[in-house]
Amino acid sequence: MVQLRQLLEQYRSEYRRCLVLTDSVFGMDGDICSLPQILELAAEFSCMVLVDEAHGTGVLGPTGAGCVEQLDCSGKPLIHMGTLSKALGSLGGYIAGSASLIDYLRNRAASWIYTTALSPADAAAALAAIRVIQSEPERRQQLWDRVAQLQTQLNLTLGDRNTIQVLPSQASIICVQLANPETALHLSKVLLDQGIYAPAIRPPTVPTSRIRISLMATHTPEQVEKLVAAIAPATLP
Ligand SMILES: Cc1ncc(COP(=O)(O)O)c(C=O)c1O
Repeated sequence: MVQLRQLLEQYRSEYRRCLVLTDSVFGMDGDICSLPQILELAAEFSCMVLVDEAHGTGVLGPTGAGCVEQLDCSGKPLIHMGTLSKALGSLGGYIAGSASLIDYLRNRAASWIYTTALSPADAAAALAAIRVIQSEPERRQQLWDRVAQLQTQLNLTLGDRNTIQVLPSQASIICVQLANPETALHLSKVLLDQGIYAPAIRPPTVPTSRIRISLMATHTPEQVEKLVAAIAPATLP
């Protein structure tokens, strides 16, 4: 936020328009954006805001509408973009915003105008997933129960070691940071050998090496326990 303010103070006056873009959930860390503060800054500097909800749709917010809903920013002046490909398990995406924005995109967004529309199967799958998101909130509760379990058990097991650390997360993506790419690759392989897929993400994709755990509502408490038990010994020096 400090850097965003600095950039706006330095460059905003040089441009007629300004669009501030942010992920809602940062997909390689699991933390979420400071949307209310971004909106305040945008108002102060007359900027538009676009939020990419790829990792928030279906997961965050009381009805699963995303981080915008969770942070009480529904109805605020922003461009709300998301994909149908993550929690919804389909393909494609959406943009929600003011009527004039949507009119503008329909007439000017070349990547939309000149791209084949979603197939009926993808559209039907996304619609079915949205109905599940709306009518089965218990799935989100199950997910947050697993997230809390994983964070608690990982922190207990790993303690204060400085070579391995659970990165702060407010979403269902939990990253375990390791000292170097080799350890991350090793741990990822140890997990895969036990039937657990948690890929090693390394620089330059991210600044520090980590394994990325993506939890689902259908994961069981026993599966989370198995994961934690598999991580602990693999990271001992
Ligand atoms: C933040 C973010 N936005 C957009 C996308 C693109 O999604 P899709 O592959 O469904 O177009 C991704 C995909 O990984 C993503 O992580």
